[in-house]
Amino acid sequence: MGLFITFEGIEGCGKTTQVDLAAERLRRRSLPVLVTREPGGTDLGTAVRALLLNRGERPPDAVAELFLFAAARAQHCREVIGPALAAGTIVLCDRFADATVAYQAYGRGLPLETVRFVNELSTGPLRPDRTFLFDLEPKAGLSRALTRIAHRGGGPAEDRFEGEDLAFHEAVRRGYLEEARRDPGRFRVIPAEGTVEEVAAAVGREMEDLLRERGYVL
Ligand SMILES: Nc1ncnc2c1ncn2[C@@H]1O[C@H](COP(=O)(O)OP(=O)(O)OP(=O)(O)O)[C@@H](O)[C@H]1O
Ligand SMILES: [Mg+2]
Repeated sequence: MGLFITFEGIEGCGKTTQVDLAAERLRRRSLPVLVTREPGGTDLGTAVRALLLNRGERPPDAVAELFLFAAARAQHCREVIGPALAAGTIVLCDRFADATVAYQAYGRGLPLETVRFVNELSTGPLRPDRTFLFDLEPKAGLSRALTRIAHRGGGPAEDRFEGEDLAFHEAVRRGYLEEARRDPGRFRVIPAEGTVEEVAAAVGREMEDLLRERGYVL
């Protein structure tokens, strides 16, 4: 079995930046790595991503949104993550089931137990070995995310959650921290207000610990 590591946190906290840097470091050591993201990672997931992130005139209802994320995740787990882990790959996933708890339960207000139940159905037996939660004030995260959108010309297709108000993002952040508190064995909360290099160094230390724990490093 490989290792399953998820990267979580509010918009703009630096997940994608850190996933890429972590992957680079592992590849330099000739470890087999797969980088993937949610929603996405499969053809079905990519189609779902387009449905979810496009802020049309009639955005999806909260329950519809929950099921769309769950559908993408079910496919992703069975088609991509499970087989990669079985082949011994270190899988780095940009958002996973904790995001659904944070956004759909804490953010949108769906019942927590319902969201957990749907998550279990979608992930099956797959659980991350470790989850890095990049903790950042929503104001800072949103300003980073908006800068990125401006630079990449992301436009409306990528700004669905970015368009929510600050209270929504505060609730999402609280949700993530609450999940981390519930499961300290799996989560590592990494302060994300530092520079890219500072955050990457913290991730690197946590990654070393995990690799040592699992016998990758002698
Ligand atoms: N530590 C940092 N300090 C300053 N800027 C950063 C830092 N980390 C990332 N950035 C920049 O902030 C923007 C958002 O970072 P990134 O895309 O990695 O965040 P994300 O968590 O993946 O966001 P999203 O949830 O929207 O996908 C990017 O332009 C990135 O270059
Ligand atoms: Mg990202």
